[in-house]
Amino acid sequence: MVTIRVPASSANLGTGFDTLGLALQLYLSVTAYDTEGRAALSFAEPDGGDLLHQAMAVVFSQAGLPVPKLKLEIKSQIPAGKGLGSSAAVIVAGLYLANHLLSYPFSEQQLLNWALALEGHPDNIAPAVAGGLTTAMVLDGELFYQKVSLQDDLKVIIAVPDFTLPTGEARRVLPEKVYWRDCVRHLQQACFVMQSLATGDYRHLARAMDDEIVQPARQSLIPGLKEVIKTALQRGALGAALSGAGPSVIALADSNWEYIGSGMQEAFRDAGCQSRCLYLDIDHQGVQIIKPY
Ligand code: HSE
Repeated sequence: MVTIRVPASSANLGTGFDTLGLALQLYLSVTAYDTEGRAALSFAEPDGGDLLHQAMAVVFSQAGLPVPKLKLEIKSQIPAGKGLGSSAAVIVAGLYLANHLLSYPFSEQQLLNWALALEGHPDNIAPAVAGGLTTAMVLDGELFYQKVSLQDDLKVIIAVPDFTLPTGEARRVLPEKVYWRDCVRHLQQACFVMQSLATGDYRHLARAMDDEIVQPARQSLIPGLKEVIKTALQRGALGAALSGAGPSVIALADSNWEYIGSGMQEAFRDAGCQSRCLYLDIDHQGVQIIKPY
């Protein structure tokens, strides 16, 4: 028996579109029992099983083998379709589980590249694998990442509205062309976000996270988005943004978490959306392979 545990993640952090990602202490775990026979699956999310199987099949087919019959149990705390990296977590779990079952024939780089091919973008994959804050880069179909050291003083508030938003839909509204000056501004801001989190100098974090390309394009899909972010900042958040492709909103704070969270929920309610709030610590470990004693 072996369990693979993978953290949720929040991608982008505003201006770090398809680049930055932060791992959260909210987990998917997949347990494989070595008994052969009919698969006993308990899915916490409806599509998790298919994607898990697809990811495992990639690794087994690269090894020239069929996926063995296994008794699998999937437990997920990560809500799907909310911008919290649920599909990246499933993909990482499937790839790492298969590699473990085959006694590690493949390198992390190979697993990252296959994860990228399945997911399409790198910014949830990297924190799911490495934990903490990651910055990712895709070159010629290969996913490279760096883990950025973080201060220990931040907690994450996630306001999760009661509707889902498929990532594909949230990407279809993105502009095809972007002005050069907006690209430069975003590059400056994204680097600033990363270094603010690394040093703990949060003075300009909120402005560095203020995305003027992607969030405005997605605003019509998420009622109240602007107000939720504004309220979080007014109530003392150090920075706030759409979490990944949404519809959840992430706020980073070193105090007043519940005051900030309740304000975010009120702003969603004013826009006609019910929501719940998650108060989470940052995960620093990434994917874990847990074996019984
Ligand atoms: N960077 C991606 C997006 C994250 O915003 O579309 C998707 O989880």
